[in-house]
Amino acid sequence: MKSKTCVLAYSGGLDTSTIVVWLREQKFEVHAVLVDVGQDEDLESLKRKALRLGAATASICDAKPDLLRSVVPMAISFAATYEGNYRLGTALARPFIAAVQVRAARQLGGAMLVHGATGKGNDQIRFEFAYRSLAPSFPVLAPWKVWDLGGREDMIQYLKSRGFDDDYQVTKSFSFDENLFHLSVEGGPLEDASAEFDIECVLGAVADRFAVGPIGCSSISPINLTFGRGVPVAIDGIPMPLGDILKMLNQHYRFAPWAWDLVIENRFTGIKSRGLYINPAAKLLHVAVDALARTCLNKPTYDEYVQLGRAYGTILYRGEYFSDQREVMEASAGAIVRRLSGSVTVHPFPVPYVSRVQSDSALFRKSLATFENSDYAHGDANGFIKLSWLTSVGRPFVEDADGSIVETRYSAGPDVCADQCESSRRLVSVSA
Ligand code: ARG
Repeated sequence: MKSKTCVLAYSGGLDTSTIVVWLREQKFEVHAVLVDVGQDEDLESLKRKALRLGAATASICDAKPDLLRSVVPMAISFAATYEGNYRLGTALARPFIAAVQVRAARQLGGAMLVHGATGKGNDQIRFEFAYRSLAPSFPVLAPWKVWDLGGREDMIQYLKSRGFDDDYQVTKSFSFDENLFHLSVEGGPLEDASAEFDIECVLGAVADRFAVGPIGCSSISPINLTFGRGVPVAIDGIPMPLGDILKMLNQHYRFAPWAWDLVIENRFTGIKSRGLYINPAAKLLHVAVDALARTCLNKPTYDEYVQLGRAYGTILYRGEYFSDQREVMEASAGAIVRRLSGSVTVHPFPVPYVSRVQSDSALFRKSLATFENSDYAHGDANGFIKLSWLTSVGRPFVEDADGSIVETRYSAGPDVCADQCESSRRLVSVSA
């Protein structure tokens, strides 16, 4: 391995552009890889930019097919989230960007792996966990952890002083990340959770950067989604590849207010942050697949499904894609998702709601759910109630003077809690 050869995950943004120039100054031969994860950007022109900045080579690699056949369908079928409301777009793509870098580094006979993530966020972890799984012997460099540039302004000055002053503006303080699943917006006025912020300003920045139009009238009509093993396979009866389904839903409902999740999240590093996630396809599909799961899974299996979705979401968030735990979770998911085939009608406005679920695996029985006459024997429930509540029968409750129930009466004994408080108070006053 040539010690001064490196492969950089180049996005075309300010950070990785500065990194190309900086690496050149550290005498590295820079091979920039632009990984297509479905970001709406002109990758050819970004490739030219990397070369202009001094990269020895720049190449584009399409990671969409890999994403669409592995983690993306899994995340959809499990309605996977982190902390319940982040639908994971960025986290899904990072390990696959790292995998492209590793492949490129191997083709060079080995190389240093470089990423542009800071030392504050999750992305550094996702990149570096993937590097450690796929190529533990390749050296890793994260310029943010070693250089003395402090932020956007420093980077712009750095580039200017070297004759590159392209299109960077200090005022554009948002950090965007887009892929086929979502668009994330962080930074700027979102940085301080204790401060009000102007949503118009945030959306203005989004519209500015990602020329998106208003939603069309057709978006108001209900859509029918067909799922096969928890993964959408057709819209309104027309079979479509998953990538097209995501693209269509994301474009269609990009400006629907329900398509934005404003999230305060706990990063893996311990830092709290606030972000706006624009993920219409994920939101709609999550609503639909959850309705399918509620219809087709029995109660204990549905509970398991929900827990797995949270657990799977958490390991993806933490960048543990290339790991035993991810493989094991996916294997155990198989038995559940094979029950999730059918069709779901979703109305997109005012908020997505499901009006109809049809599936051969449905356990939903109208004859049981109905309030009308049926041959259900209501008296059967008596035994169920008696046995289910045996566990609590015999516990005496006391009534207040006015008849309201206040608490369980326990046999007289020491109040352990009060005793503990008292003894710890004594300990404190002795040591003080
Ligand atoms: N907070 C989200 C996550 O950790 C989004 C990160 C977006 N990354 C970025 N470099 N802007 O997945």
